Amino acid sequence: MVAITEAVSLDKHGEIGMLWIDNPPVNALGHSVRKGLAEGIEQAEKDDQIRAVVVICKGRTFCAGADIREFGKPPKAPHLPDVLNRFDQCQKPIIAAIHGTAFGGGLETALSSHFRVAVASARFGLPEVKLGLLPGAGGTQRLPRLIGPEKALAMITSGNPIGADKALEDGLIHEIIDGDLAEGAVGFANQVLSENRPMVRVRDMTEKIAQPDSQIFDDFRKQLARRARGFEAPQACVDAVEAAVAKPFEDGLAYERQRFEQLMNGSQSAAQRYYFFAERQVARIPDVPKDTATMDIKKVGVIGAGTMGGGITMNFVNAGIAVTLVEAKQELLDRGLGVIRKNYDISASKGKIAAEDVDKRMDLITGTTRMEDLADADLVIEAVYENMNLKKEIFSKLDKICKDGAILATNTSYLDVNEIAAQTSRPESVLGLHFFSPANVMRLLEIVRAEKTTIPVLATAMEIAKKIKKIAVVVGVCYGFAGNRMFAQRKRECEKLILEGALPAQVDRVIYDFGFPMGPFALADLIGIDLGWDKDNSNSRTMQEVLCEQGRFGQKNGKGYYNYEQGSRAPTPAPEIDALIVEFSRKKGYIRREISDEEILQRCIYPIINEGAKILEEKIAVRPSDLDVIWVNGYGWPVYRGGPMFYADLVGLDKILGGLKKFQAEHGEDFKPAPLLEQLVSEGKTFGSLNA
Ligand code: 3HC
Repeated sequence: MVAITEAVSLDKHGEIGMLWIDNPPVNALGHSVRKGLAEGIEQAEKDDQIRAVVVICKGRTFCAGADIREFGKPPKAPHLPDVLNRFDQCQKPIIAAIHGTAFGGGLETALSSHFRVAVASARFGLPEVKLGLLPGAGGTQRLPRLIGPEKALAMITSGNPIGADKALEDGLIHEIIDGDLAEGAVGFANQVLSENRPMVRVRDMTEKIAQPDSQIFDDFRKQLARRARGFEAPQACVDAVEAAVAKPFEDGLAYERQRFEQLMNGSQSAAQRYYFFAERQVARIPDVPKDTATMDIKKVGVIGAGTMGGGITMNFVNAGIAVTLVEAKQELLDRGLGVIRKNYDISASKGKIAAEDVDKRMDLITGTTRMEDLADADLVIEAVYENMNLKKEIFSKLDKICKDGAILATNTSYLDVNEIAAQTSRPESVLGLHFFSPANVMRLLEIVRAEKTTIPVLATAMEIAKKIKKIAVVVGVCYGFAGNRMFAQRKRECEKLILEGALPAQVDRVIYDFGFPMGPFALADLIGIDLGWDKDNSNSRTMQEVLCEQGRFGQKNGKGYYNYEQGSRAPTPAPEIDALIVEFSRKKGYIRREISDEEILQRCIYPIINEGAKILEEKIAVRPSDLDVIWVNGYGWPVYRGGPMFYADLVGLDKILGGLKKFQAEHGEDFKPAPLLEQLVSEGKTFGSLNA
């Protein structure tokens, strides 16, 4: 074995040169790998004993793409497109031998090889679009030549991988290897030599792009304008694939490169790359060592079979973990179980799960009305409605029923987890697991660390969250924790804005255009305006109360801030409500004025950022990027804007501070800047500087 660089070495198996890449954890194509590949091919070509080359990786995966950590720094030669052109030109056949994931530049490396073999579990994808980029090392030019423009567009614009079976069917790979990959790849290479199989350079393939249906490009553009509204990269991907069809290979490559660099230098990709690492950083809690011993969670108990409890139950069941679901009354339990089954039936009818899985999943749920049945649960999650006394009563019962060491969690969105923990003789085993609705769909989970929660309990919660495919962010105890506490700021401002002179449609348009999936008033209609409305103590103080008193509860009864046609979720204007808002605000003494879109945006966003700064100061969250992960996953913040804290850095903290001070002078102490924000501005620092 000859080491070519730190990350690449060359070995020989008879007449086959084995070019091994070893760059943990994911064999990203950093400088040492690129240099090693270029020089390795050079050496193999010169070596008369070598007649074919296998490119293969050590460790858990084939190359997962370019090294994202190098992006934004001055690029160092050799550049990946040049290395891959060298692959193309090699006079000896190159066989890519793939396991794990051939992603991004990794798949592009395979596409520049002359043959591709893989183990059955391998996956293939061009996920660059998820980083706000397009494949920039020939992927947009070679993939359509190999599998046709339509399939290439689907892979490149979604970024989603395909499995080995599909790759074989589509002609992306030549063979699936059973057993040892290296051995199988050598066998394949020897066969290529003995049969004298012609070397296939994907760049020279023309058949699949010869008669393109130009309609597919327009169809993709239209579809993406809806599905990926506001994102630049998906449209650029379509342009680049179209260039593959319209231009000679070299011109197409040059076009791809130009668009790649344009995206790389733009703010959307910067935000999405930042977010990629932010999402991985959340798992790191400074005082929780990586090797903390965790508990095995085999049986879970869920209390409450309502919307939240049902959704929470489904998460565990989907991961193959048995759940005992407790409800106070049999009819409520039956209803809850019925809803879960209906959800699985819908998934089966859409082909998302196999029909036989419906029963299998339902079999993992044991419904009961007896809390005593939770005696052997390893983790219990209480998901009853928000009432402190009820929760306290449940926790003191659980304390008596549950086995020693069982973790007791509350799904409260606001209440004091320390107070709940204090009801038990084991506050060290108590924490909050704040799921977001619908709990079986939303990826965000706030893990609320109470004063006495121990490190193994916290580490176990993080581990189980990963098992049920949640993105878990650890936060501390305060009213609303991190997400809802920040969200409350926007809600308050929106309610004020419509009294001062804006109307729901204007506020919604501004927030929608910023990139949120819907505006705050359309969202209120969706969630239900009557949520938290106290009918008996209502005194028409807020617009929301006025709407509730008029029986306008939102989408659920077809009228809220907007009107809804029967069975439709699309809001239509409600002039009667606009008039009511105007009248209500006048009665309250407001002199309505025209409010600019810019003011609406700043009034909605700046207080979120300011509250985030307070949360960081109080150490409720570990780092600013954790708050961004919460907002992207729980509140629809557009990922191409990174999250509120990243966005604040982009806008400039001095500008945010200036804006808050101006609003403070005009509207009062709700806008009082957080000391941390003042401090960062005075030191010329950013939130990013706190992201350790
Ligand atoms: N560059 C640098 N680091 C990377 C990386 C990459 N392309 N891909 C993953 N990593 C790092 C992660 O940050 C993480 O580091 P950490 O342990 O310090 O947090 C570590 O590798 C392991 O990653 P995951 O935690 O994500 O491990 P999983 O096993 O869950 O997933 C994976 C592995 C499926 C490969 C996943 O990491 C992934 O999807 N990676 C991104 C792949 C990608 O986007 N590739 C395209 C890059 S852009 C490109 O290639 C441009 C080209 O067209 C020119």
